[in-house]
Amino acid sequence: MIEVKNLTKSLPNGRMLLDGISFKVKKGEFVGILGPSGAGKTLTLRCLNGLLKPDKGEVIIQDENGKGHDICKINKRELRRVRQRIGVIFQGYHLVKRLSALENVMIGRLGQISTARSLFYGFTDGEAAEALLALEKVKIGHLAEIKTGNLSGGEMQRVAIARAIFQLPTLLIADEPISNLDPSNAKIIMKMIKPLSATMPVVGVFHQPEMTAKYCTRVIAIKDGKVIYDGDPKLSNDMLVEIYGEELSLIEQQEHAVPAMLIN
Ligand SMILES: Nc1ncnc2c1ncn2[C@@H]1O[C@H](COP(=O)(O)OP(=O)(O)OP(=O)(O)O)[C@@H](O)[C@H]1O
Ligand SMILES: [Mg+2]
Repeated sequence: MIEVKNLTKSLPNGRMLLDGISFKVKKGEFVGILGPSGAGKTLTLRCLNGLLKPDKGEVIIQDENGKGHDICKINKRELRRVRQRIGVIFQGYHLVKRLSALENVMIGRLGQISTARSLFYGFTDGEAAEALLALEKVKIGHLAEIKTGNLSGGEMQRVAIARAIFQLPTLLIADEPISNLDPSNAKIIMKMIKPLSATMPVVGVFHQPEMTAKYCTRVIAIKDGKVIYDGDPKLSNDMLVEIYGEELSLIEQQEHAVPAMLIN
């Protein structure tokens, strides 16, 4: 379980970036965060994995033993330990392109093995076999030896998911994991992420309400640093306009304008 309470972050000039964000995500839930550009979605995720310290608020994460930690308050050593169990999937993959798919997956657990072993990428045969299983889970076991730099975007994103799986996370967060992908690969990736929520809470930021409606169990909308919706993943048109405001109305106006132009 992860619980976020009253996250607040402002700039020195007083501009509120996060304005009292609160929500809870349990194991079994795949929560999609929607919101216009600049709303505070990525900042919220950065607070979730301890990369950004809010001015106020709490982020309580349950570790593998079920113990809750407020990652805004724990010391650096404890934070490092909790973060080793937070799987992160980004839009830009964040893979080491010169290493093979299998090696990239194993990197997911680097923080959990001894310094001496990690210096030499000293993974055991058992760990390598487990990493291969993670690649097989996302249907690219046959690409294990290929340098990730040579893989397609969809394949790279699967390596990133396999890396997160291999990390044995207690929480999975994803920032725009499907934004670089074509519709077919985007669906495949959503289908692969969804079942991971059976063993841990999954929180992802998306720009595709039709995808979150289909694959997420719940949707949270953030606008101007505030949660303005938290509920059913299928959003009404009114709610979509409230979330995306002018942007969406403009798009809709353009769509209406096209047939008129064609007639003329
Ligand atoms: N270090 C910083 N200093 C000043 N402003 C910042 C800083 N980091 C983020 N911001 C601002 O905070 C706001 C929220 O940023 P955030 O990255 O969370 O947006 P987002 O909702 O993820 O948008 P997008 O959908 O475009 O990725 C933005 O207006 C951004 O410019
Ligand atoms: Mg963002």
